[in-house]
Amino acid sequence: MILVLLGPPGSGKGTQAKKLVTLKSWPQLSTGDMLRSAIKQGSKLGLEAKAYMDKGSLVPDAVVVGLIGERILLQDCKTGFILDGFPRTISQAESLDQMLASVHRKVDRAVLFRIEDSELVRRLSGRRTCIKCGSMYHIENALPKSGGVCDQCGSKEIVQRDDDFPEIIEKRLMVYHQQTAPLVEFYKKQAKLRSVEAARLPDQVAQALHACLIG
Ligand code: AP5
Repeated sequence: MILVLLGPPGSGKGTQAKKLVTLKSWPQLSTGDMLRSAIKQGSKLGLEAKAYMDKGSLVPDAVVVGLIGERILLQDCKTGFILDGFPRTISQAESLDQMLASVHRKVDRAVLFRIEDSELVRRLSGRRTCIKCGSMYHIENALPKSGGVCDQCGSKEIVQRDDDFPEIIEKRLMVYHQQTAPLVEFYKKQAKLRSVEAARLPDQVAQALHACLIG
């Protein structure tokens, strides 16, 4: 299955994608993670992307389409994959359809994570991320078990993402409503859209997401 997770920043796409990876054999393809990894490596692409990400703007379509275009051809994507944070514009969605058509594949399902902006601000401003392995925490309800040490990899570098500060969160939400929300209609027209109520406990969201994959 080729699955698109669609939803505003902080709606839980990454959290649910990671849960699905452990259940299914599909890899999680997160353009945000790919770009952050390029930044960490100090590559030219990473430096270029950082300027957009730090402002809460979208990285140019050609950059992310190029990243995804290469990634989906790898062996581990053969039986399916989860797109987390891509596509984010109509142009990206059209490019994705074209790339997939050229290898006789298609998006099977797009699942929209429905949630109010006020809850997203709370989630994102409290999010903390392990620099080393990407594990996520929250200052209100999901702190690492032993102080500032990552439960998964033992790293002590658990930080706030550069784009998880209030003014940037506001900009990211605005960008979502202007540029990404139109994808809801795009996938509705293709009869591929399902949706889940995302302001619930992670396991409840996971259950609803599963139902979308079957029905
Ligand atoms: P990206 O990394 O994709 O960020 P995002 O889409 O803004 O999504 P987030 O990772 O912030 O949120 P999420 O929905 O995955 O929620 P999460 O599970 O983490 O993109 C970053 C930037 O890269 C973009 O702004 C852009 O510049 C660039 N970019 C990326 N892709 C691009 C593209 N295709 N085109 C152009 N530019 C691109 O959860 C958030 C928090 O909530 C966590 O603390 C988590 O623990 C908590 N949480 C999760 N679920 C629940 C729950 N059910 N209840 C309570 N808390 C929960």
